Amino acid sequence: MSRQYYNPVSLIRKKRDGGHLTKDEIQYLIDAYTRDELPDYQMSAFLMAVYLNGMNDEEASAIAYAMLHSGIVVDLSAVPGIKVDKHSTGGVGDKLSLILAPIVAAAGVPVPMISGRGLGHTGGTLDKLESITGFNVNLDLVKYEETIKKHNVVFIGQTEDIAPADKRLYALRDVTATVECIPLIASSIMSKKLAEGIDALVLDVKHGSGAFIKDVEEAKKLGKRLTDIGFEFKKETIAYLTSMDEPLGYKIGNWLEVEESIECLNGIWPADVKEITLLLSGAMIYLGGKATSVNEGIEIAIKMVDKGKALQKLIDIVQEQGGDTEIIRKPSLYPKAKYNQEFKSTSSGYINAVDSYLVGMASLELGAGRKEKTAPVDPQAGIVLSKKVGDKVEKDETIAVLYSNNDSYLALAQELMHQAYTVGVNKPADAVLVTHVIDRDGTRAFDYSTVPYLK
Ligand code: URA
Repeated sequence: MSRQYYNPVSLIRKKRDGGHLTKDEIQYLIDAYTRDELPDYQMSAFLMAVYLNGMNDEEASAIAYAMLHSGIVVDLSAVPGIKVDKHSTGGVGDKLSLILAPIVAAAGVPVPMISGRGLGHTGGTLDKLESITGFNVNLDLVKYEETIKKHNVVFIGQTEDIAPADKRLYALRDVTATVECIPLIASSIMSKKLAEGIDALVLDVKHGSGAFIKDVEEAKKLGKRLTDIGFEFKKETIAYLTSMDEPLGYKIGNWLEVEESIECLNGIWPADVKEITLLLSGAMIYLGGKATSVNEGIEIAIKMVDKGKALQKLIDIVQEQGGDTEIIRKPSLYPKAKYNQEFKSTSSGYINAVDSYLVGMASLELGAGRKEKTAPVDPQAGIVLSKKVGDKVEKDETIAVLYSNNDSYLALAQELMHQAYTVGVNKPADAVLVTHVIDRDGTRAFDYSTVPYLK
């Protein structure tokens, strides 16, 4: 079938001048770019025009559609059950996928998880999984399907066949200052998620200092755009808006986050990690048809942890994907980074605030993240906090320990941690973690009284 030709300059001009492109025009631009028929400079100009002028609902849905169909849409209909995944828009210490995927899979809901690497100051599930010696995230799509059939869970990275337009566009956005744009973020996320063969999706839309979208009102718009795309593609979708004003849990860094996830699956939870993980797991179990409500889903999730079934599921999938199960059973066997240094408080009082972005940058500088796209990450580098917001701290008391395999990285990380922490004389009010929910009934403030397990 011959494709319609458009003049790219006219399409860029139309968008630049505040016009709206048709579905076919957007399809043309995405197809041409994916096939190398449109140069980076024209796509960059188009992306900047979108960044500056936004997209209406039709355009946003058209770009998600075009990106989704730029590659294979995996068909998992031969896998029994309602397949449910979760996606987070990215944060610091955000290890929830490592905990909730085994919980939900143990509850009988298949979780096909195609994850990403760390991006900027945020960590990525793939880098964390690869800190488990031998763990292979590069499975082909046949093995992907076989694994999910066998274990109800599989973890892989984005392949060349899955949403290739997103792979190319994301790299271009990263270097043209066009990442922070709601329709572009939404189409990027949803094209990958819809391509992996899911039936339903739970989204964790982060806002606050450590999130890409800091402002809660903007996060609501992103959550709405994401759920609208989900519904349009006939996938049940629930988005929770959660605060990333403080790193999640106590451990930040690749192996360190796997270690904390294993602690959680052994029932030793930081309160914030527990709250959001149980909520998202409950929603996934509910959407997966194994519970009649999110609350019942949470009850099931708690049982999966208490009975050791979720930890066993993690061990099974690590074994299946070639990882060392011994270190999952006994995390203390994992070698520590060569160097460590305490970060101490310079005054007495209460931890009033943490700039999570700066903590994420400190972790990146220690070696846990990347400064260049293809650079390797240090699996042992990172930060272990001993204090959270609201905790009392004395002058010279340790707030965190920094870990790295390169001692020259420690000084900058110390500096960033000093900038990140604010200690004040008064204890701050307790933070609210889950702020909003967006589903078919629309957007509303999250009501903790309806979910009794969380507080
Ligand atoms: N995560 C994605 O997958 N895409 C974006 O554009 C931003 C975050």
